[in-house]
Amino acid sequence: STIDKTAFAWSAPSNIALVKYWGKKENGEQIPANPSISFTLKHCKTITSVEVKRKEMNESFSFDLLFEGQPKEEFKPKIQKFLERIERFCPYLKNFHLVIDTKNTFPHSSGIASSASGMAALAMNIMSLEKALVPAISDDYFYAKASFLARLGSGSACRSIKGEVVTWGENQSIKASSDLFGVAFESLHENFKQYQDTILLVDKGEKVVSSTLGHDLMHGHPYAERRFEQAHDNLAALSTILKEGAIEDFIKIVESEALTLHAMMMTSMPYFILMKPNTLEIITKIWQFRNDTKFPVCFTLDAGANVHVLYPNNVKEKVLQFIKDELVGYCENGQYICDEIGKGATCL
Ligand code: PMV
Repeated sequence: STIDKTAFAWSAPSNIALVKYWGKKENGEQIPANPSISFTLKHCKTITSVEVKRKEMNESFSFDLLFEGQPKEEFKPKIQKFLERIERFCPYLKNFHLVIDTKNTFPHSSGIASSASGMAALAMNIMSLEKALVPAISDDYFYAKASFLARLGSGSACRSIKGEVVTWGENQSIKASSDLFGVAFESLHENFKQYQDTILLVDKGEKVVSSTLGHDLMHGHPYAERRFEQAHDNLAALSTILKEGAIEDFIKIVESEALTLHAMMMTSMPYFILMKPNTLEIITKIWQFRNDTKFPVCFTLDAGANVHVLYPNNVKEKVLQFIKDELVGYCENGQYICDEIGKGATCL
């Protein structure tokens, strides 16, 4: 192909796991120890543009990194490592200099990890370059490889490419599931369409435990094997629930998964408590509210103190009122983010 200079731009959303990915196989290839499934978000996203210029000397890729238009040296090593990892799958990279400009729609220090959305958005741009060089590649290949590449940047990023609900990791209940890339869940029941996720920012600081270190905690963990089996069982059960619409059963699995993730961190060596007192206050209030109103509201957690409040669209007004009246007081500076299920990456 004759591309000398061109530019691409994609947005990619964050995602929130329902069955958690926690632990990798020990081969260094970002293979999950257990399968996971997530809701794709809509508003929390990374927007990345990449300008590519053909180089004279084709020895290795090179790049500049801008964050919100300004050079950002701190982020470079992560991108360098990512590009090194994917180079053998994208041999054309060495012919180009990339100018990567990236920004997030959510505040930088919000405790919301930008690695999933960031790696997904970058992977989409790389695939646009590949498509420009090899126009014949199919859409299926384009998205599957984008997810494959994103996985090498950050495991959960492979679930931020395409689909409202995405599974990653081989599991007998999900047809075509793979350890290598995310697969869109096909038959989502009406009850879960437009599902809401209000993210309560309890602690906006940097992550106490990086996910790399966190996954490593599962090596030699006394409960690891049982946990990995449980994730398979929970994913199989959840896939039926998501098809059939049983929200009560959904709640049980989702909350149990969140607490199990934290239980794994409390029982590892070294051990961590990543919840804050306000995390527990919020969980208690959600349980009270659910008991009193019978509204199907539940929570999930990432590897941190923030709480994701999940509920169907048809109770949105009442739940938001409850959140404002009773939960926002537990958030750092009263901050929270209203998000909902989205469809994945978008070409801009
Ligand atoms: O993609 P990573 O390596 O940042 O790991 C993400 C781990 C959790 O967010 C805690 C769970 C998940 O499945 O997203």
